[in-house]
Amino acid sequence: QSLHTADRPWADIPAVALPAGDIGAAQFPKDFWWGTATAAYQVEGAWNLDGKGESIWDRFSHTRGKVKGAATGDVACDQYHLYKEDIALMKRLNQKSYRFSAAWTRVLPTGAGAVNQKGLDYYSRLTDALLAAGIRPMCTLFHWDLPQPLEDLGGWPNRDTAAKFADYTGIVAKALGDRIDTWAIFNEPWVFTYLGYGSGVHAPGKTDPKLFLKASHTVNLGQGDAFRAMKAVAPKARIGSAYSMSPGEPATDSEADKAATARFHAINNVWFLNTALRGKYPEGFAGGIPEETMGIQPGDDKRMTAPLDWVGINYYRRTIVSDNGNPTAIPPYTERPGSEGPITEFAWEVWPKGLYDIVTTISNEYNKPIIEITENGCSYGDTPYGPDHDHVPDQRRVEFYRGHLAELARAMRDGANVRGYHAWSLLDNFEWAEGYSQRFGLTYVDYRNQKRTPKDSALWYSKVAATGRLDA
Ligand code: NOJ
Repeated sequence: QSLHTADRPWADIPAVALPAGDIGAAQFPKDFWWGTATAAYQVEGAWNLDGKGESIWDRFSHTRGKVKGAATGDVACDQYHLYKEDIALMKRLNQKSYRFSAAWTRVLPTGAGAVNQKGLDYYSRLTDALLAAGIRPMCTLFHWDLPQPLEDLGGWPNRDTAAKFADYTGIVAKALGDRIDTWAIFNEPWVFTYLGYGSGVHAPGKTDPKLFLKASHTVNLGQGDAFRAMKAVAPKARIGSAYSMSPGEPATDSEADKAATARFHAINNVWFLNTALRGKYPEGFAGGIPEETMGIQPGDDKRMTAPLDWVGINYYRRTIVSDNGNPTAIPPYTERPGSEGPITEFAWEVWPKGLYDIVTTISNEYNKPIIEITENGCSYGDTPYGPDHDHVPDQRRVEFYRGHLAELARAMRDGANVRGYHAWSLLDNFEWAEGYSQRFGLTYVDYRNQKRTPKDSALWYSKVAATGRLDA
């Protein structure tokens, strides 16, 4: 633990606490990164253009019965062709940061081997256009689209995938590290390992809880390997990861439910963070970590250690946790969503205070790291109306963002070192197994003609980004 504390760059950087006073009238710091987020497979389209290889999401969505409405990301929002238009939109919305992901299969079509220059060039053009618009590019290296040929070799449960992933991240960092300084290695490692290999709801659709554990270990090794591979070629890179996090609340006051909630926190929230910052797994299972199942080898603790420059938090909702009578099962708890707040189209509870809770928890547990909110958002199906179909009144989304940003301001006032916030998402887009049925965008997308219409929430958020105030 102490081994790495000295390396942590944030140790000397004072937190940006907000002054006391009415949170509704809070003034966020001038240099706060107001942004939006997307991911390659969800917005790019162009699934087989310019040498791009097949990913597990191409394969999964092309397989009957996997995605609602047989939807695919073949075209999605066609950002591959429309990125200039989208960047002009971001600029109009006063955006300071854009979080996008690079598709491994554009850069290395089969996951390893020769670089596909055309694929790298796309991210280079995107980066240049963002910088020209005064917007910070924040690049995520992996947002779930593993090259299919690597899945055929066993995918994330295969340890060899870690080193291949690191090679790929080094290639991207080398090509773009002169212009991009903020990087996220993984997006939501718990989600893609658990839903991909444990529950099977996401690609590649495997359903073996033990594979989830194996995959999670490879991902932890890959995170450390990638951190070093990227720093070696881009020493100034500020590298973090974006973690799905949900504050757990015990269903009852019983000791058993409280212990289950601690296990939930360990596995759901910090299984890929504690490893990086402390070189060891958190206490996720009663009776210890199932090292054999996970394939842990001597020296792995060092390998998965990575003194991240910042921590990314994706927050959507809280979780109510109870004991499942088997603290060594995978997972070793039972969870259900909260049900007191209003619900979104996805039936997810709206719970702004959860953002305060998780940010302050992580801030306290890990000694006030630099935090960026890498995603937060909601799905509502409001559609364009009015004579010109150019107005999308989505007041519920405005209230969602206002409530969450007020809780974020409160966490910052209480000392959390938060530097940026990214709304999910800039655009309505391909929502994984839900296809196009869930609309998370600040901007409405008409998929028939790719027309973008900023919703009322986008106009509201643009004022927040311009003024740093929620009462703007
Ligand atoms: C988190 C994921 O990173 C993103 O891809 C997804 O669309 C949103 N959650 C909404 O479910």
